[in-house]
Amino acid sequence: MQRILNTETAKYLGKTVKVAGWVNTVRSHGKIIFIDLRDRSGLLQIIFTPDKENLYTLAQKIRPEWVIGVEGKVSKRPRGMVNPKIETGNIELHPENLEIFSQAKTLPFSIDTLGYEISEEKRLKYRYLDLRRERMRKNLKIRQKVLHFIRDFLTNQEFIEIDTPILTKSTPEGARDFLVPSRLQPGKFYALPQSPQQYKQMLQVAGIEKYFQIARALRDEDPRADRQAEHTQLDIEISFASQKEILDLVERLYVNLVKKLFPEKRVTKIPFPRMTYKKTMEKYGTDKPDLRRNKENLNELAFAFITDFPMFEWKEGEKKWGVMHHPFTLPQTEDIKKIKKEPDKILAFQYDFVLNGYEIGSGSLRTTNLEVLTAVFEVLGHKKQDIKKQFRHYFDAFRYGVPPHGGIAPGIDRFLAKVLNEPNIREVIPFPKTGDNRDLMMDVPSEVTEEQLKELHIKIVKRKNR
Ligand code: AMO
Repeated sequence: MQRILNTETAKYLGKTVKVAGWVNTVRSHGKIIFIDLRDRSGLLQIIFTPDKENLYTLAQKIRPEWVIGVEGKVSKRPRGMVNPKIETGNIELHPENLEIFSQAKTLPFSIDTLGYEISEEKRLKYRYLDLRRERMRKNLKIRQKVLHFIRDFLTNQEFIEIDTPILTKSTPEGARDFLVPSRLQPGKFYALPQSPQQYKQMLQVAGIEKYFQIARALRDEDPRADRQAEHTQLDIEISFASQKEILDLVERLYVNLVKKLFPEKRVTKIPFPRMTYKKTMEKYGTDKPDLRRNKENLNELAFAFITDFPMFEWKEGEKKWGVMHHPFTLPQTEDIKKIKKEPDKILAFQYDFVLNGYEIGSGSLRTTNLEVLTAVFEVLGHKKQDIKKQFRHYFDAFRYGVPPHGGIAPGIDRFLAKVLNEPNIREVIPFPKTGDNRDLMMDVPSEVTEEQLKELHIKIVKRKNR
């Protein structure tokens, strides 16, 4: 007999069916044993009575979280036993056959609560149990729905989803790279992508025009509530589009997404407010203003775009100029002399996407003029010959016909955390890392064998205790 889902059993009243799942609860009432069976669809009550002796004896051993399969007859529950809180609350299953697939130890924590009260170390170590929790299951399902909606929406607008490499070259996007040693090219390294920025620009030279990717971006930075070593971006790049067209697209996408998947939410203002960085800083003292009318209201979403950021910022610690976004961003002047002489006065075609006081996306129009690009890198302290070496693909590619282009990358994890009113992005990421970038479930990072190191021409130098 083929197994069906718990919630499908109602269609088979009076018939024999087969279900399978985890034992959610076991209760004894007088001589009757009640087992709530949980599967991906929901709960189903199973009743064991002493008249079926063999089954009953077996059922007496069953404990929570055992995995079992049951064949039995679907019956209406007696009056007074109906549970309106669950989908199968009108019915129960009278078993004819019971199979125990596996037993379970007592869980290290409860999974029928929201889980916020449990230490995160424990939750992450036993993430496979934590994900049995209804809230976490719901978060995973919504995450998939959001990604599915985005894919459909952009595909319908003739965007092409293209994967870009994970083993790549470091991108100067401000964070530290994760490096991967090359076995075949001793002494050389790949970098994991901080974002697909450089590839998506190459795809514009390739004539793709409308690119997107639900991309993993990896940055070796200290995690925070809204920051992980790995995060997921909706990466977009478009040729021949103005800044307004890019922002309009993102606005349409998020307005429709919220309408479809979060109908209980109210968007504070449509069209989303668009304000310059300068005005925003003057008015709110931050470039991520929280524009909700009522901050107590859990169902309010205040989106905004902040535009016209300064191109450069002075980094006091390092005593040098840095970029507000990334070096490929288009300055609002092509006057190279000005760029070099007065970096602090140059604005950029850069925009941030903000939700309830959080930066949930960032993007820019890009420089296609190689002299301007060189000037930007020079302000950042790079030498001319190094720039041409490190970014050779730009200098090569842009000489073969480059369209004007720009893009944006809204962060998926941050949006989900905000829209689900979760306190941090770890609640919406299936397998997040701890505050010191460890995966406690897999015990990562971990040591490797001498042999592996040798193959990679790597020697570990242990720091002596001082
Ligand atoms: P940026 O670096 O601003 O831009 O990243 C885009 C968006 O990704 C989210 N984000 C993060 N989310 C969780 N953890 C992190 N460590 C993290 N870092 C960033 C934020 C952010 O706004 N290539 C450019 C985009 C472009 O110019 O098109 C880029 O990656 O929501």
